[in-house]
Amino acid sequence: MENCGISRWDCPSKINKQLKELTSQPIWEVSDEYYDGTILKYYDDQCKQSKEVFDEAQKYIPGGVQHNLAFNKPFPVCFSKAEGAYLYDKDGNQYIDFLQAGGPTILGSNYPVIRDAVIDLLQTCGPVTGLLHEAELLIAKEINHCMPNVEMFRMLGSGTESVMAAIRISRIATGHKRIIKVGGGYHGWSDQMVYGLKIPGSRNLLESHGIPRKCFALTDEVRPNDLDMLEGFLRINRLKGGTACVIVEPVGPESGTRPVAAEYNKGVRSLCDKYGALMVFDEVVTGFRVALSGAQGYFDVVPDLTVFGKIVAGGYPSAGGVGGKKEYAGLMAAGVATGKHRAYVGGTLAANPLSALAGYTAIKEIERTNACEIAGRAGDRLTDGLKDLLARYELPFVAYNQGSIVHLECTGAMSYDFSSYLFVKSALGLLKYQDIMTERKDSMERMGAAYMANGIVTLAGSRLYTSMADTDEIIDEALNRFEEVFKHVVKTDKCSGK
Ligand SMILES: Cc1ncc(COP(=O)(O)O)c(C=O)c1O
Repeated sequence: MENCGISRWDCPSKINKQLKELTSQPIWEVSDEYYDGTILKYYDDQCKQSKEVFDEAQKYIPGGVQHNLAFNKPFPVCFSKAEGAYLYDKDGNQYIDFLQAGGPTILGSNYPVIRDAVIDLLQTCGPVTGLLHEAELLIAKEINHCMPNVEMFRMLGSGTESVMAAIRISRIATGHKRIIKVGGGYHGWSDQMVYGLKIPGSRNLLESHGIPRKCFALTDEVRPNDLDMLEGFLRINRLKGGTACVIVEPVGPESGTRPVAAEYNKGVRSLCDKYGALMVFDEVVTGFRVALSGAQGYFDVVPDLTVFGKIVAGGYPSAGGVGGKKEYAGLMAAGVATGKHRAYVGGTLAANPLSALAGYTAIKEIERTNACEIAGRAGDRLTDGLKDLLARYELPFVAYNQGSIVHLECTGAMSYDFSSYLFVKSALGLLKYQDIMTERKDSMERMGAAYMANGIVTLAGSRLYTSMADTDEIIDEALNRFEEVFKHVVKTDKCSGK
């Protein structure tokens, strides 16, 4: 397959077994001596200007940062420059960027071709008019060219909104009510989707504060990679209003943190057909990353609807969209058409010329440069190097990847499964698991701080996105920096039950 970023597909049971071994051990993390002496000293000495910004920001911004991924131990570093594979903080320190803004910048940060196109547009049209702009057509046609199943596409403001739209369309198209998601999966933060977040089986227990129970009364959660459980829910749902859609992240929930079998998506497809539910692929992360044709191209599966985000606006704001077969995507028709039988969607800045043009230019560039494959190769090299280091330093950490989506689990904070406990154990039992998770998450952030102090930006200390800008030399340099951290990892008695 052309421009595909995934060169191998690891067996999920092997990875899950390693993760289980990791979480059945006490926590391994950088020693107190290294953390207090070297890491905290780096922040104190080298990140003074970041600290100043953060100290003041805490007065005006809840938590001191605007973005969930920015809240890093011991305080968030403030960035002022981005270029290719590197980020630079306000104090001038350079970092290798494996956060990639949470996924959108597969071409590398601040990619000049997109920037030039955007500046050109700003000089003439400005960012927004609220009326039709040719870039809207260009991006819809280009997506259709890369993913022929996406016959029609409507650009929206974010992945969250696009998931909401996909659910609404599914309900209209099927006349069914319920929606099924996979435990641990993130599909944005709309009321009905903040359910079963991060940890399978967690239902409404972790992050759904402030959301009335009724909001997820029609949401079901199934275990990752478990087609039997999915069929069970689809069958039962026939008596409860039917299933409108099954929504999956095709590489597994939480961007493949819980990997699925290579044939899983085909299994979901046939179950959706059997029970009259639409199949929704959430390609917010995977679209134009795992392959130019998306995960649907890689897995050779035709979803009914595809949700886009991140790369779809080329790393620029207002990144979202939903598309699919005409009969479904057509239900979103826009314009002044009050009262029509349609899925109502909107957004003042949705599909503004800037986002549409940046997205179109990005996808064209990904096609021209073979970016998915190059970023995927960098992901393979990084993962292989990490595995070698883990073996050399005899660490129980787990490294695996789906091309340019690289996972490095040091504590296994997200590798629990509440399902079995919730149903049979008391609330006290659950609390205990939450405590363990909190301690492991704390340790994960401590590892993240150690990486950062060594010039590596990660996503919450456990995920790394590679981009086309990551040359072999940059990956090897990153591995040297990881080695510097791993040298100082020790086994603690945290989470040992002592
Ligand atoms: C798989 C997936 N779906 C949906 C979303 C939500 O997208 P947005 O942050 O644009 O609302 C995300 C965001 O990270 C995501 O990873």
